[in-house]
Order: sequence, then C-alpha cells, then structure tokens
Amino acid sequence: MKKENLKTPAILLNMNALKNNMRVYQEMCNENKKELWPMIKTHKSKKLMEMQLEIGATGALCGTLDECEMCCEMGMKKIMYAYPVASKENIERVIELTKKTDFIIRLDNLDGAKMINEMAEKTGIVVSYTIIVDSGLHRFGVLVDNLVEFADQLKKLKNLKLRGISSHPGHVYGATCETEIQKYVDDECQTLSKAKELMIDAGYELEYITSGSTPTFSEAVKDKNINVLHPGNYVFLDSIQLSIKKAEVKDCALTVYATIISHPSEDLFICDAGAKCLGLDQGAHGNSSIVGFGTVIGHPELIVAGLSEEVGKLHIHGETNLKVGDKIEIIPNHSCSTANLCSFYTVVDNGEVVDSIPVDVRGNSFKRI
Ligand SMILES: Cc1ncc(COP(=O)(O)O)c(C=O)c1O
Repeated sequence: MKKENLKTPAILLNMNALKNNMRVYQEMCNENKKELWPMIKTHKSKKLMEMQLEIGATGALCGTLDECEMCCEMGMKKIMYAYPVASKENIERVIELTKKTDFIIRLDNLDGAKMINEMAEKTGIVVSYTIIVDSGLHRFGVLVDNLVEFADQLKKLKNLKLRGISSHPGHVYGATCETEIQKYVDDECQTLSKAKELMIDAGYELEYITSGSTPTFSEAVKDKNINVLHPGNYVFLDSIQLSIKKAEVKDCALTVYATIISHPSEDLFICDAGAKCLGLDQGAHGNSSIVGFGTVIGHPELIVAGLSEEVGKLHIHGETNLKVGDKIEIIPNHSCSTANLCSFYTVVDNGEVVDSIPVDVRGNSFKRI
C-alpha cells in the first residue's frame, strides 16, 4: 500500500531514517570503543531493541521495570534500570530479574537501598547497582562531593554490589541552540571525571561509568572515562532535536500522518491529529525555543498552533498550496511521548507501507491486578 492511501491519523515510522540513526550512533560508539546500551523508553519495542542489538548494542537502559522484563524475556544479558526502586512489589521484580540476568539498578538514597538490601538478603541474592551522580539535572543523584560518603554507607549493605556510577545530563534540553550544548557536555564529562577520581582514590573499583543523552552524545562518546552510552531519542529524533540542530528533517523517523479536514478561515486549517497523537510536550527543562506542537514537513507556512484531543489547529502564514482533503506529515515535538501514545508504529519504506510494529510495553498499559 502507498503511504498516501493510509487511514489517518497514523503514527509512521520511516525505516530508512530509523536504520540510519541506529547505524550512525552505533558507529560512533564503535569508533570510540564504547558500549551502547540505548535508553529504550523512547520506543518501548521488542523489535526495535532487536534491531539495536543486531547492529551492535550490548545492553539496554530501561525507563520502566516493564521494559526491563521485556529485555529479560528476550534473553538479554546486560539490563539496567535507570531509576531507584522503593516498594516491596517492585523490589520483588528487581530480585526476579537479578536471578535471571545481569541486572543493574541505580541508587541515590539510603532508605531505598536498605529496603532492597533487606529483601535481597532474605532471598540470598546480591543486587547490582550503580550510583547516580547529579551532573546538573538536579533530579536524581548525589552531588559529586557527597559521593564517597554515600558509597561508604552503601558498602555496609552486604547484599548490594557496586558496579559503577551513572549520570544523565537531561538539563541539556534547556539549550535553545546548538552552541549552548557544549556547556552541558562539560557538566556531564567533568562531573563524571571528578566522581571517578574521588571513587578510585577512596579505593573503589568502577566497572561501568555510564551516561548519555542524544544532544550531548557526539561529544560525550569521545570522553575517556565514560564507557557505556545511553542515548534514547536518537532512534526517532524530533522537533526538539531540530530546534537545537541535532537533527535534520530527513533524519526524523517518527511522524504523525494527518488529513486536513477543515478550513474555517483564510489563515486556519484543522487536521485530524490532536494531542492524543502529537502530545502537548513543548520541550523540557525550560526550553522556550519550540514554536507550536510539531513541524509540518515541506510546509514552513504552517504552524501547529494548538491541539484539542483529536484535532489540531494549523495557522497558515502566507501562501499555501494545501486544501481540505490533503494529507500532511508532522514531526512531533517529542517523539518519545508520541510513541507512548500509540499501540503500533506503521512502518513506511520509500513511500510504501511495509509493516506494523507493536509498541510492546507502553507506559501503564499492563493490568496490575
Ligand atoms: C536516565 C536517562 N538516561 C538517558 C536518557 C536518554 O536521553 P535522550 O532521550 O536525550 O537520548 C534519558 C531520557 O530521558 C534518561 O532519563
């Protein structure tokens, strides 16, 4: 089937762009002798994880325990959960994963660590962890100056095993242009360098120094200390990456396909894709450089000015050759959010619809009772 014959709205996955993005980032890891454990909360898909493994990824960083369990079922050996856990129910899942594979969680607080240690001790299991170091995002993590003291406290918990340190310079999304990105790369690399030095001086061994984000990747991959990189968004890219010049339109693999369904005034179209496809995300961490709610490919005269749940308002600036009934392709602001809004990616290869790939572990899509 031709793409033009698809029902709308549809969330499209451009296979060429996807494969190219996966290849480019993998090659940079290979050139710099680094391991790529992609953050898979971006796509939440078994098939896409398989593709990443086929071209050289050696592990995964997961944003949910559902994703960790999916990777474990796939037989993966190196699986890391990005955040601490602190409930009996989820610690049980951590213990199950630890029994089956080389599973690593991240810690940044003693209360949670003690809970995990106690349950691990009862099961006779040793749970691996890295310590989260705050490189400027100020979300999770200990400050580098408090790192050794925290590691010393964790060392007393005998059913926990230190494997390394981790960070995520997510505050890079506060950058409004390409030139600002270096400051965040410095935060990431200098923080981890100091952290490593302090830990080694204190007698700790660090098997893994792991970090990553898509905007800082091309520089951080060259850092001599970081040995595992965790970009996530790079597989799809999006309008946020366009705004900071980390992508070009041709690289954006995930798009929303929509039909113009109304033309209520001279300067306004309405399309049949709204917040439930595109998401209302306009960039995290204070980024004010994003205009509207997506980029309409090939139509700079259109701005996605507003979204209702199922329809979108397109402001027309100047001349347009579009009319009611025409189809348009919109690059969402944040592709990770858009991916989580659909159950299937509709795969397009050179204009032909060739496949559909399930989003296997969408957030909150599992029965919990
Ligand atoms: C802890 C952690 N690591 C890595 C990433 C990947 O960052 P990006 O999507 O910019 O590549 C994220 C994304 O939010 C994250 O939360």
